[in-house]
Amino acid sequence: MSTIALILAAGFGKRMHSAIPKVLHQISGDPSLLWVIRALPTEVKEAIVVVNHGKELVQQALMSWSNHNLLPCPVTTVDQFESLGTGHAAQQAIKELDRLNAHRVVILCGDVPLVRTETILDLVRSDCAVLAMDTNNPDGYGRILQHPNNSLKAIVEHVDASPAELNINRVNGGAYSVPWQLLKDALGRLSNKNIKGEYYLTDAIVDVARRTQMNVELCDQTELIGMNSRREQAHIQSCVKERINNYWMDRGVTFLDHASTIIGPRVTLAKDIIIAPNVCITGQVEIGQETVIGHGCVISDCSIGNGVNIKPYCILTCSEIGDHCILGPFANLREGSILKRGVHIGNFVETKKATIHSGVKANHLSYIGDAEVGERSNLGAGFITCNYDGFNKYKTLIGKEVFIGSDCQLVAPVSLGDKSIIGAGSTITGNVPPGALALARTPLVIKEGSADYIRRKQKARKLE
Ligand code: UD1
Ligand code: MG
Repeated sequence: MSTIALILAAGFGKRMHSAIPKVLHQISGDPSLLWVIRALPTEVKEAIVVVNHGKELVQQALMSWSNHNLLPCPVTTVDQFESLGTGHAAQQAIKELDRLNAHRVVILCGDVPLVRTETILDLVRSDCAVLAMDTNNPDGYGRILQHPNNSLKAIVEHVDASPAELNINRVNGGAYSVPWQLLKDALGRLSNKNIKGEYYLTDAIVDVARRTQMNVELCDQTELIGMNSRREQAHIQSCVKERINNYWMDRGVTFLDHASTIIGPRVTLAKDIIIAPNVCITGQVEIGQETVIGHGCVISDCSIGNGVNIKPYCILTCSEIGDHCILGPFANLREGSILKRGVHIGNFVETKKATIHSGVKANHLSYIGDAEVGERSNLGAGFITCNYDGFNKYKTLIGKEVFIGSDCQLVAPVSLGDKSIIGAGSTITGNVPPGALALARTPLVIKEGSADYIRRKQKARKLE
């Protein structure tokens, strides 16, 4: 018995007023379509995504998610070529569903991101069912009509509904589980005789419901909100924020202002983390116990150890931060920054593709790029790796326990031996051996009394 998921993602998304396909719009850092695919339970062996509008972008996104192992099962796409409705979208997948030898199809909408795995699992286990919700704001949704035994009788689209039907607040969530042969036959009978002139999938579902009992499964309304407009996107965003932040609060995380904090669905937080207001953590992120994240930090795709102190307004991207590091305020850790245990990265310090070993301090106004810095080295204020000559990038290697004075530049490729010292204000263009002192600056000139002379001269010039 093979269950195949069919995810509809080809619509134009007119109500979003966007150049980006609707299903790629994000909720807490992950696109709507990724939320839907990631929610598929292991019982689903394959998924087919119907694409059309912005299909290159959707296909690129699927490829990248697959490369990052974010997809729970193999996913193929079929092209709808023209968006003639949800039923027409399902018709395009007939060949592929036959090829995959589908027995049951679980259909989901790519613009309904918050449906949970457990809910889809219930749907999969039910032979034939539609997900529905009761809502005070049924506008735009198809209305659900039921038989006295509660099974599905009809789904009436908002635009086609009579005034009495518009008063129904049980609506179609756009998710169904159906035996493939029955649905396939129903798709063959679809017509587009309705106000929109579209082929409605809902008509095919009702057709199946006429031949076999179709259950109406009610679920939490936050799970089935469709993202058809920016307002709905904002509503979904606020629902998910509450869902995720409550989840972590129940597991020992303190939010100083949970309403202003965005935590993505792929973030894992340990106990006793404290998160200050206006923090945004998205992508694949793990954070260890007792780490403190200050006001306004933006963190994506990072692994952060235990007891790390991240002061306000740091930006951390695709980086690894070891236990007990101290970062910021205003640090910018770009992709490929690897900080071992106890590193201090201070204010206005930027790192990129840099491995920084234990106990290193770079506390003020630095750029450390394409570099490796040995244990316990101290990089003074204003230190810069000159890693780029306008054409190529070069590496800087700094040994252990090196001391670099303030305002130094290392012109890469260059290496500093262990325990070497670089005098403040030096521009180093060659390798420095271990234990050596390197100075590269113009000699100090002192002219006694010259300051007075210059002042008098400038004053006279001003009077002229
Ligand atoms: C649809 C349902 C409605 C339900 C609602 C739930 C139909 C006719 N209506 O309405 O009963 O309450 O979802 O959210 O099915 N799509 C395609 N090809 C198309 C048109 C749409 O792939 O030609 C995709 C869209 O990208 C979207 C999904 O199908 O992901 C639903 O389409 P949408 O236009 O959003 O339908 P709704 O008006 O929300
Ligand atoms: Mg929709």
